[in-house]
Amino acid sequence: MDILSIDALSDGEIAAILDRAGLFFAGNRGRRSTERLQGRIVFNLFYENSTRTAMSFATAAHRLGASAITLSVERSSVQKGETLEDTARTLNAMRPDALVIRHRENGAPAAVALIMDAPVLNAGDGTNEHPTQALLDAATIRHRLGRIEGLKVAICGDIRHSRVARSNAKLLPRLGAEVRLAGPPELLPDGLPRLSVDEAIAGADVVMMLRVQRERLEDDLGDAPGEYLARYGLTSARLASASPQAVVMHPGPMNRGVEIEPAVADDPERSLIALQVEMGVAVRMACLELVLSGDAP
Ligand code: NCD
Repeated sequence: MDILSIDALSDGEIAAILDRAGLFFAGNRGRRSTERLQGRIVFNLFYENSTRTAMSFATAAHRLGASAITLSVERSSVQKGETLEDTARTLNAMRPDALVIRHRENGAPAAVALIMDAPVLNAGDGTNEHPTQALLDAATIRHRLGRIEGLKVAICGDIRHSRVARSNAKLLPRLGAEVRLAGPPELLPDGLPRLSVDEAIAGADVVMMLRVQRERLEDDLGDAPGEYLARYGLTSARLASASPQAVVMHPGPMNRGVEIEPAVADDPERSLIALQVEMGVAVRMACLELVLSGDAP
């Protein structure tokens, strides 16, 4: 099986990943290594920049005893004009046990999955989906708040370009949460109700802020320094209108002082940003184990 999108996962698979991640998370803290995927080879193919996702998939593979091999795309034959399909055929011929791919084009991981014999995991494709991020966000919320059912989750910022928002908007309602998407009107997808950031945050249990993806914008926002934070960012004042126990999340990388005030990002009580990263390793361990469990070595 592949992990390409939230919709392609069954309720049972989602529950299994979240439960297993919870167990791995407990083990992670004790740094207990396992040998569940000993001898397996996981290829990491990142056509877009990444710190968290790339390192977290590699760490997850190593924690399970597998080897993660990372192709430096900027030094690969991609630079000589090789197509994505030919790269996939080449990598497939080396018989890896799984392939993790991030690509700037929507649907690239699905196209690669048609070629690869091994399972393919989508580590983010363009503005489409980032399923393992949504799974780690769900696992983080459940770990901290004990449930997802019935929670109000505000996801605020550059919704238009956010694969994190798209995957979360599919996953969290399936787990019983109410998701409110809000941001500057020019950064909301067409057809979405125009909800203001203040409206979304009011009474929310979880406030998830997103980076303005300036690299995907055709025209710059033209905002003056400090203007975005004042109008749409998460400040302590805005957070005060959320539920009294509200927690703060951000998939990273953060633009401090733009979508989030530094004091809020660093709030030791309410910010789950570091917990998201730690949970990311556990969730990716669960995902790798699930896709590789079918074929014993
Ligand atoms: C996000 C991504 O790449 O989609 N980062 C991540 O994976 N943690 C969000 C972003 O780039 O803003």
